[in-house]
Amino acid sequence: MTTAASLAFAEDHQSEDEHLVAARRRADEVEVTPIGPGAGAALSFLASAIGAKSVAEIGTGTGVSGLWLLRGMQPDGTLTSVDLEAEHQRLARETFTAAGYAPQRFRLIAGAGLDVMPRLTDAGYDMVFLDGDKVEYGEYLDQALRLVRPGGLIAFDNALWHDRVADPAQRDAETTAIREVIQRVADDDRLRSMLVPLGDGLLVAQLLP
Ligand SMILES: C[S@@+](CC[C@H](N)C(=O)[O-])C[C@H]1O[C@@H](n2cnc3c(N)ncnc32)[C@H](O)[C@@H]1O
Repeated sequence: MTTAASLAFAEDHQSEDEHLVAARRRADEVEVTPIGPGAGAALSFLASAIGAKSVAEIGTGTGVSGLWLLRGMQPDGTLTSVDLEAEHQRLARETFTAAGYAPQRFRLIAGAGLDVMPRLTDAGYDMVFLDGDKVEYGEYLDQALRLVRPGGLIAFDNALWHDRVADPAQRDAETTAIREVIQRVADDDRLRSMLVPLGDGLLVAQLLP
């Protein structure tokens, strides 16, 4: 089995430039936990591999995951990102602008994920990344299945939730919601999935064409 040292090696293997470092500093200032470099690189890789032009994200934070995603997307692609906190999105805008992305490359929508997702276009997204309220992961999955196009990807961060998901003694609301989503994804014949133990865990599912 892979040891903690090997997992840390894989995580640290990804270097981040000054724009990602600055976005992490902004995240510290507002006490948001961004995606780790390993899972960030995985998002970028996946967006690139499917030629993503349209990506939706719930949980903008200060733009760490958004910047990884934008870097994997097509040069004319658009990231739509939703967050409850306008201040987080102000900082994310700083992140994307400083990294050289024109305003038309990202659409930031302030609001609750479950209020905004029903207004987004059916099958309008190549990839949907979920990193908002963990308790809402099941409802995010319902919405993401509608938003993603056939062949597109649905990804959840924190799929291992601080080692709690693997521990059956942990029964808090977040852990339970994440466990249920993992099971639903595994049981759904429309999806092909993998649970990648990078960072805090990345659950990725493809809606079969
Ligand atoms: C873990 S942080 C996101 C980090 C970001 N994805 C990154 O890697 O840089 C979670 C974010 O989700 C937002 N959030 C929490 N509950 C939400 C909800 N119900 N709808 C939308 N955003 C939510 C928080 O304000 C916070 O910015």
